[in-house]
Amino acid sequence: MESVIVAIDGPSGTGKSSTSKAVAAELGLSYLDTGAQYRAITWWMISNGIDVDDPAAIASASGKPVIESGTDPAAPTITVDGLDASGPIRTQEVTSKVSAVSAVPEVRARITELQRTIASAAAKVAKGIVVEGRDIGTTVLPGADLKIFLTASPEARAARRSGELKGKEATDLAATREALVKRDAADAGRKTSPLAKADDAVEVDTTELTLSQVIECVVALVEEKRAAK
Ligand code: DC
Repeated sequence: MESVIVAIDGPSGTGKSSTSKAVAAELGLSYLDTGAQYRAITWWMISNGIDVDDPAAIASASGKPVIESGTDPAAPTITVDGLDASGPIRTQEVTSKVSAVSAVPEVRARITELQRTIASAAAKVAKGIVVEGRDIGTTVLPGADLKIFLTASPEARAARRSGELKGKEATDLAATREALVKRDAADAGRKTSPLAKADDAVEVDTTELTLSQVIECVVALVEEKRAAK
């Protein structure tokens, strides 16, 4: 069977990660969380005392950290200079700085190259890959076999994100909603490859859907594509 490349984009809290992982696991595909890579480089910048409000400083340091992603959907991993970054990249500090770091063109060029290398390796040696992010269908893998753009109302997205954070950090629904809307506006408004739906992406509004319904819908779309290949 030919391999398949699936791009899943959309703003935070639309169920992108849960959906992408589950779809990859169900169909025996690899999985890449590109947000984790931008978070990892942001964590490295903060840990190394780089001023994240200084794009020139970020640009000149952007080639230094070695970022590696493990693509098993059952246990995705992310390391920076060999250190497990999966915990530190989810802190509020990283979340609040990641949009600024990921807007720097040198950062995007470096991470995009990494993403393309991982995707083409998976297409050669495995059944294919599900890559989730913000600009996968538009910029990173414009030739993907299937592009999905997930959306949901800001209320639904904030409620999901609060649920995820519960027990980890103090949360408040209104503050979560505000932070999320602000981050999406920054991600969609940046100059270099902003968060955007590709013209040929299938849009799925998840506001009224359960996670299982979204997974079912995406699995059906991938199977349809595979059958047509
Ligand atoms: O999916 P996430 O919330 O973990 O992503 C974190 C940030 O990374 C997000 O605010 C924008 C950035 N990002 C990006 O610019 N491009 C991608 N392909 C994925 C994430």
